[in-house]
Amino acid sequence: MANVLLIGSGAREHVVAESLKKNKDTKLYSFMKANNPGIAKLSDKVEIGSYSDLEKIKSFAKENNVDFAFIGPEDPLNEGVVDALQEIGIESIGPKKTLAKLETSKSFTRELLQKYNIDGNPKFKVFNKDNVNEIENFLNESNDIVIKPDGLTGGKGVKVQGDHFNTKEEAIAYCKEVLGTHPSVIVEEKFDGEEFSLQCLTDGKTVIATPPVQDHKRAYDGDSGPNTGGMGSYSYENHLLPFLKKEHVDKALEITKKVADAIYEETGEYYKGVMYGGFILTKDGVKLIEYNARFGDPEAINVLPLLKTDFVGICQAIIVQELDRIKIEFEKKATVCKYTVPKGYPSNPVKNEKVEIGNVPENVKLYYASVDEKEDGLYMTGSRAIAFVGIADNIEKAEKIAEQAVSSIKGKVFHRKDIGTKELIVKKVNHIENL
Ligand code: GLY
Repeated sequence: MANVLLIGSGAREHVVAESLKKNKDTKLYSFMKANNPGIAKLSDKVEIGSYSDLEKIKSFAKENNVDFAFIGPEDPLNEGVVDALQEIGIESIGPKKTLAKLETSKSFTRELLQKYNIDGNPKFKVFNKDNVNEIENFLNESNDIVIKPDGLTGGKGVKVQGDHFNTKEEAIAYCKEVLGTHPSVIVEEKFDGEEFSLQCLTDGKTVIATPPVQDHKRAYDGDSGPNTGGMGSYSYENHLLPFLKKEHVDKALEITKKVADAIYEETGEYYKGVMYGGFILTKDGVKLIEYNARFGDPEAINVLPLLKTDFVGICQAIIVQELDRIKIEFEKKATVCKYTVPKGYPSNPVKNEKVEIGNVPENVKLYYASVDEKEDGLYMTGSRAIAFVGIADNIEKAEKIAEQAVSSIKGKVFHRKDIGTKELIVKKVNHIENL
């Protein structure tokens, strides 16, 4: 019997809730910033509140005799919820605030890889108010660059040369703008290649990879339009990707294992939770774009439904640092996840618009994100609304299942039709071959 506190209210937390509740002896207590109807249905009790209200979270955990907590999004990690729960004797799946710097401070991670000689970094430099005048020199000696504010930006602060700006002057102006709101800014050389997500579970000593996934950040078909939180994602039945060989997944896992060791060396603390590496396969091999200190959304929706091993048992093993004793297995199935989002998303989404779910095939899984359940139905609140995942023996079948379900939605919505299709996947394979 385990009493579990789940923090978060998105589709990622909906799939986490489902995975935890597969264990019939689990009681689920969910703390959400908005009432996700899918999570609410799976929960024994819910509390709505702000992730910065650590006292309210602690009281909710104490009242319900919670055994451990699972922290879904990055914001509560950054608020120090793991440290707060530890004060009352509750351990979490999720790192303490200082270790969540893996995600919340891009400079911490780049400098950690550099200090411990771990592969995967681009050429980079961290700038602050004291060395801002050196940016121009760095730009003169670099190819195309990426500018990253040093802190959480909800995925909206990273600017890429060629996409968001072109000239050196524009780059310098943006770095100065960032320094108005952040202590530092990282400027790094841009990688060319295909991105993939490798989400790993760790107790700080043992690191286990889940199947690699490819997310699609751009809003529109053909990987065009503005960046989003992720419009959909796919994974393959062989637990590789069509452009990614086993040696590449092994390399990404090796980097993550070295980073977990380096975190312990550097801080004297074990990182417990998810280390989600955003990697890219380039002509020079596997490189690291960034780490996140949590599961990806939508990538969690690809991997967790495939998990054959008891997820509560995995979480308990992470807490007592016995992950090495567990064999974690995933079904050998392909998955395609597609999000339905409000028209105008991400920059100017319609809000409080009703969505109706049509004839969803039985073999599709549905996860709620930014929706509000009212007496007369479901309303979108402005961000990604509902995720659908098709799971099948191969990607063609998985794509058809997801597409049929997502296109059955009625309302002011759109989705990407091309995610998981042969046409787009061939484009990605060709991209790698042509590098
Ligand atoms: N899928 C991108 C993210 O979760 O950050």
